[in-house]
Amino acid sequence: MSKQDIRGTALITGASTGIGATYADRLARAGHDLILVARDTGRLGALAAKLRGETGVDIDIIPADLTNKADLAKVEARLTDDSSIDILVNNAGVALAGAFVEQDLERVDSMIQLNIVSVTRLAHAAAKAFAARDRGAIINISSVVGLAPELQMAVYGATKAYVTYFTQTLRLQLSPNVRLQAVLPGATRTEIWDRSGSGGAESLDPNMLMEVDDLVDAALAGFAQGELITIPSLPDPADFTAYDAARSKLLPNMSRNRSAERYRVGEPA
Ligand SMILES: NC(=O)c1ccc[n+]([C@@H]2O[C@H](COP(=O)([O-])OP(=O)(O)OC[C@H]3O[C@@H](n4cnc5c(N)ncnc54)[C@H](OP(=O)(O)O)[C@@H]3O)[C@@H](O)[C@H]2O)c1
Repeated sequence: MSKQDIRGTALITGASTGIGATYADRLARAGHDLILVARDTGRLGALAAKLRGETGVDIDIIPADLTNKADLAKVEARLTDDSSIDILVNNAGVALAGAFVEQDLERVDSMIQLNIVSVTRLAHAAAKAFAARDRGAIINISSVVGLAPELQMAVYGATKAYVTYFTQTLRLQLSPNVRLQAVLPGATRTEIWDRSGSGGAESLDPNMLMEVDDLVDAALAGFAQGELITIPSLPDPADFTAYDAARSKLLPNMSRNRSAERYRVGEPA
């Protein structure tokens, strides 16, 4: 899966279906032992049995609701204590459709717990362990929605903007031997579209909808190519580089001892 020595166990959150289950399939076939995390024990057990049978790798499951502090602590402890773990795929996430003021605040809160708090705490446990061993990989599943307020998913998009920013900043702090990647899928055919109240994947323009196998294969190809940011549907990576360069151009003027001229109202000329 990578140019360097990342051969160990992969811990994948949200592995019971969708993108996480597809990562489990690909990483098992690449010879990685797996630890699969999600709430649905039946689905995790069935996937583990299938992949064990087909690939012969060792697979452990941790049933956990990652919005629950005790369950989350269990997974953090595994990342801290199990030195065979080389890869964290921080994938579990939920989305919520609809206008912010119409959304159920408990579901909004739970989405923040899963998409931000659990991702952060698991990355912290993994980053500490990987930094001590000077090897490992953290793959954070973000979303293109985090780049596009136009899509009007106020809180979901903000949680994904967090994941992308967080990954970019960790890149500046961790040794290059600890690999990092933020994957920014566009619309991908999974259950998230039913669970979020968006009307199901079938309601989307088929030209905008990627199959989950293609999505994960592209994300893993981006990882193998050493990308920090992978947008699987983006034809020309120079477009993201240009976007990032435009942002960087703001840096010298982000913090100065005087306000910009246009705001100095009422000041003598
Ligand atoms: N599909 C898309 O169009 C798309 C686009 C951009 C980004 N993404 C991101 O990709 C990631 C995976 O999404 P997906 O499309 O594969 O969605 P999915 O098919 O709905 O799968 C979500 C996974 O997360 C798990 N999960 C949900 N709540 C959980 C909780 N409280 N604790 C532990 N696990 C939980 C689910 O398992 P259980 O129900 O068994 O717990 C499931 O395995 C998410 O972070 C999502 O934001 C998806």
